[in-house]
Amino acid sequence: MKYENLFITIEGIDGCGKSTQSERICEWLTSVNACETLRTFEPGGWSGGKFLREVILRDENFSGMSELFLFLADRAGHVEKKILPALKSGKNVVCERYVDSTIAYQASGHGIENVREILSACKFPEPDLTVLLDIDPELAIKRVKNRGGNSADKFESEGVKFMCRVRDEYLKLANANPSRFLKIPVLENASESDIFAQIISGIKGRNLSCQFR
Ligand code: TYD
Repeated sequence: MKYENLFITIEGIDGCGKSTQSERICEWLTSVNACETLRTFEPGGWSGGKFLREVILRDENFSGMSELFLFLADRAGHVEKKILPALKSGKNVVCERYVDSTIAYQASGHGIENVREILSACKFPEPDLTVLLDIDPELAIKRVKNRGGNSADKFESEGVKFMCRVRDEYLKLANANPSRFLKIPVLENASESDIFAQIISGIKGRNLSCQFR
């Protein structure tokens, strides 16, 4: 079966394993498909986004609204300069984090008002499929701490309660949009390969078609 020219986003709280699975999905999509796959991410996955990512992740004590608009400024450039050109030229796009991150983190995590209304005015293109890697926040935080380095950035240090709010919102979004979301449980003992196998079987079970073809 061929899955042509798809726009797939990967979502989940910090430490759920997005990057690993995104890499595997890209390899798989390219192998089952006749077209190339662009792997990208937010915040910062485009030429102007490197600078924006640095600003966003710096601990500047921004107001919630300022932070929201920084994420949106990043997304606007990312969509215009990278995601849409790739989709229109027939490539698949696999993006770690996208609009659902803003709803889960800014609206529910930080309680900023009117996030959904502002997002709807932005008219960002909707993904064909969103893979939600659903992990228990306690386990996710343990993983993030084990990762070490700079990864315990200001978002990751928000703590378990914050991550629980974010996770709950992701689950609500998945329940409200079952045809777009593929929810994959990330359990402590599951290997990366087990999780990947579940994702592929979930993708194969969908009748996906791309709006940009
Ligand atoms: P990311 O680099 O994906 O972190 P990680 O790999 O640890 O999951 O994203 C950095 C942080 O930005 C992450 O904590 C989630 C946050 N974020 C938002 O709060 N809103 C958004 O719209 C996006 C895209 C990310």
